[in-house]
Parts: sequence; structure tokens; C-alpha cells
Amino acid sequence: MAHILQLLYLIAAVTFMLGLKMLSKPDTARRGNLIAAVGMTIAIFATIFIYRDANGNHLKNLLFIFAALIIGSIIGYVMAKKVQMTAMPQMVSFFNGMGGACAAIISVIEFGHLSHLNSGGHSEAFTDKIFIILAGLIIGSVSFTGSMVAYGKLEGKINDFHVKGQQFINIGLLLAILISSILFGVEFLQGMEWFYVILVLSVLYGLLFVFPIGGADMPVVISLLNSFTGIAAACGGFLYDNYVMLIGGILVGSAGTILTVAMCKAMNRSLTNVLVGNFGGGATSSASAGAQGSTKEITLSDASVLMKYAKKVVIVPGYGLAVAQAQHVCHELETILEEEGVQVKYAIHPVAGRMPGHMNVLLAESNVSYDKLVEMDDINPEFNTTDVVLVVGANDVVNPAAKTDPNSPIYGMPILEVENAKNIIILKRSMKAGYAGIDNDLFYRPKTFMLFGDAKDSLTKLVTEIKNS
Ligand code: TAP
Repeated sequence: MAHILQLLYLIAAVTFMLGLKMLSKPDTARRGNLIAAVGMTIAIFATIFIYRDANGNHLKNLLFIFAALIIGSIIGYVMAKKVQMTAMPQMVSFFNGMGGACAAIISVIEFGHLSHLNSGGHSEAFTDKIFIILAGLIIGSVSFTGSMVAYGKLEGKINDFHVKGQQFINIGLLLAILISSILFGVEFLQGMEWFYVILVLSVLYGLLFVFPIGGADMPVVISLLNSFTGIAAACGGFLYDNYVMLIGGILVGSAGTILTVAMCKAMNRSLTNVLVGNFGGGATSSASAGAQGSTKEITLSDASVLMKYAKKVVIVPGYGLAVAQAQHVCHELETILEEEGVQVKYAIHPVAGRMPGHMNVLLAESNVSYDKLVEMDDINPEFNTTDVVLVVGANDVVNPAAKTDPNSPIYGMPILEVENAKNIIILKRSMKAGYAGIDNDLFYRPKTFMLFGDAKDSLTKLVTEIKNS
């Protein structure tokens, strides 16, 4: 039976890797998710029904296990069904926090078993396992509390919270956790209460670590905490000699780390800058000084004529598309233009919106064909042969200051070079800045036309105008 269990674990591990690989492309992402979920189901049921401990016993408490499985599945299903696309980051954060809590609980329970073993004095099992248990406890509880703060901030329930010298407090706390863990692990600190002191310090660190980080920087932090949860779960894999848990944890840990680095790179910011920096003013800040001149507005009928008689239109979706929930009407516009013989593509910037793959998810929701979604590096050379670029609620990702102004906070961030197109139409509600809190010189350029209003509203009117003209 042990061989069958290992074989099923191997199959599950392969599905995780396949799933991850398939998640990297929009057209295979759904299938990838499903394949990894099937693998996880195999791993769970194999553990429940086939696993035996060193004494040859199956898992006990099956009633509790199935009750938890059913309740958890129902809650997860309902939450995932009900969530708005704009609220995805907070849901990911919430689920991630639950993973961290599970890893920390595993450590607390295993510590209970270990301290029982150790009650007669020093035991080898204690030395073997205590550091893994402590690693799972610390990383899991930091991930749990940090993710819950991130969730609260994104839901608007928790505000940014700074105390003077907070970084020093955090560093002090971290050192206290590390030193007390080492001393406890080598049994220099003897009392079992030290374990719970480390737990409390870790919970506190998770809170204080995420509290001061700017609300809009949360996606990067969530991705980082996600990798923490993976590592904490891998500790559980070590404890139970469970390869599938180990592999799953390592995959989540490494994928989360790669994603965190990729997000920072695409924003041209270091992780330290995200964690301790105060970047931009958020989506509500007003335009800052820098760009000058006056903007030109375009009427709905002029915009519709420009697009209807164009050969090629490129739509650039941004955060405003998500806010306005304009993805369906955007797809409608694309269909109508194609009926008029216009070639339509979407230009996808890696950090457009507020979470990885935000635009892909939104457009997939409205059934935009995946082959129309063109990545930044591939679409940039096409802008000089594009008649009209329609920028829908995007700002930073099309800001030329990233290439030309060394003093700009986004200098060095790769952008969509829409300024090379023949005409640029910008859909936004006002002249307010985007996430980086800076003005955009593109809006004042001779080829640029502003169409002010809510993106969904403007696109709906454009569709009607094109249909009627
Ligand atoms: P932003 O630069 O944030 O600009 C969004 C624009 O949408 C705003 O200027 C806003 O202007 C407009 N807008 C908001 N609601 C609207 C509505 N209902 N209708 C029409 N327009 C609306 O967005 P972006 O260009 O997508 O850039 C993303 C930014 O987020 C980058 O700076 C990136 O570094 C950062 N970021 C991204 C991620 C990921 S992983 N995607 C994670 C963290 C940070 P008005 O208010 O005038 O309408």
C-alpha cells in the first residue's frame, strides 16, 4: 500500500508542476488550475484512506476530517463564486492567510506531541524536529497575521499605520524571534512557555510588518506572504515525511518568490522600496507637477469616426477598466469594430491593474479571444503602424516619463509605447493621477485626445455611436 501512496503522491506532484506551467498562459490557465486541483484531491484522499503511521494505523477522526473538508469546500466555493473581479487580491490574501494559519497550527500540535515525548528529559526527537516546528510556527503565523492585515487594508477596513521608528521596532522583533528560537531549540531556554512567547512575537511581527506598507503596494506583499505560506507548508511536509506536502510547499514558495521579484521588476522597484518605501499617492491623489500644457477633448462622434475608419485599433486596458467593470462593453466595441473591418488587439502590460494577470482575467471574463491579448514586448513595435490607441483607464503603464525623466518615480519601468501611434484616445474620469501619483505628459501631446467620463459609460456611448453612424 505504501508504494501506491507514493505513486499517487508522485502523480499529484506532477499535476502541481503541470498546473503551474499552464497557469502562465491565459488560454491554458483554467485547465492548469483544474489539473492541479485534481492532483490536490488525489493527494488528500490518498492521505485519508491509504496513509499509515509508523505503527501501521490509518488516520483517525475521519468524521472531523470530512466535516472540515465539507465546510471548507462550501465556504471556499461560495466566496469564489461571489467575489467581484476587483476584490480578487483580498480574497487571495484571505485564503493565503488560512494556509499560514494551518501551517502554524500544525506546528503547535506537533510541539504538543514533542513536548510530551520530551517530558522525561532531553530526547533526540526533540532536537531533530524542534527547528522545523519553530520555522513552521514563525513563518506560518507571520503569513497569517500579515495576510489578514493585507485583506483588511484592501477591504478598506484597516488604514495605514505608522509609528515613529517602526522599522527599528520590526528589526528588533525579528531579532528577538530568531534569537529566542535558537536558544529554545538548543534547549538553553528550557521552559515550554518560550514556545508560546515565540508564537506571540511572530503574530505581532506579522501585524507590524504589514501595517505601514502602502495599501496599493499590497499585491506585492500578498505575493511575498504567499511564498511564506508555501515555505511554512513545506515545513509540515518535513515533519510528516510527506513528499507531496513538501513539494507543494516548495512550489508555492518558489513560485511566490519568482512572482514577487517579477512584479518588482515590472514596476522598476526593489522589494525593499516596496516594503519600507512610501510610493506614489494611490489612485485618488491629484496630478503632481511635471507635465505642462493643455489637453484636447474629443467628442463621442469624432472618436467613433476615428475608430470606425481606422485599419488598426489597439486597446490598452488599465486599472480604470477594472474599477468601471467595463470589460464586457469593451469586448462589444471590439466586435463592432471588427465587423467594420478594423483589426483590433489588446496591449497587455505586466503590471496593469492591481494584481498579476488582472487584465487577462478581466478580459477572459468577457470572452475576449486569448490570441488578441498581446504582451508588451510584442505589441510595442506595432504602435507606429496603429491608427488609434484607445487607453481605457490606464495611466502609469503608458507614461513616457518612465523612459525620459530620470527624476520620475517610475523612471526605468518598461511601458507601452502608445505615443508612437497616429492617434491616442484616453478614457478616464478626470486629470487625476494613477497609482504612482504622478502626472502624465502623454495627455498633453498633440496626438492625444481626452474622452472624460466613467470608462463603462464612455464605451457604451461609443458602441451606440458607431452602431448608429
Ligand atoms: P493607474 O496608473 O493606477 O491609472 C488608472 C487610471 O484609471 C487612473 O488615472 C484613473 O483616473 C482611471 N480610472 C479609475 N477609475 C476609472 C473609471 N471608472 N473610469 C475611467 N477611468 C478610471 O493604472 P495602470 O495604468 O493600470 O497602472 C497600474 C499601476 O499599478 C502601476 O503603477 C503598477 O506599478 C501598479 N501596481 C500594479 C500591480 C500589479 S501586479 N498589476 C501591483 C501593485 C501596483 P481618473 O481617476 O481620472 O478616472
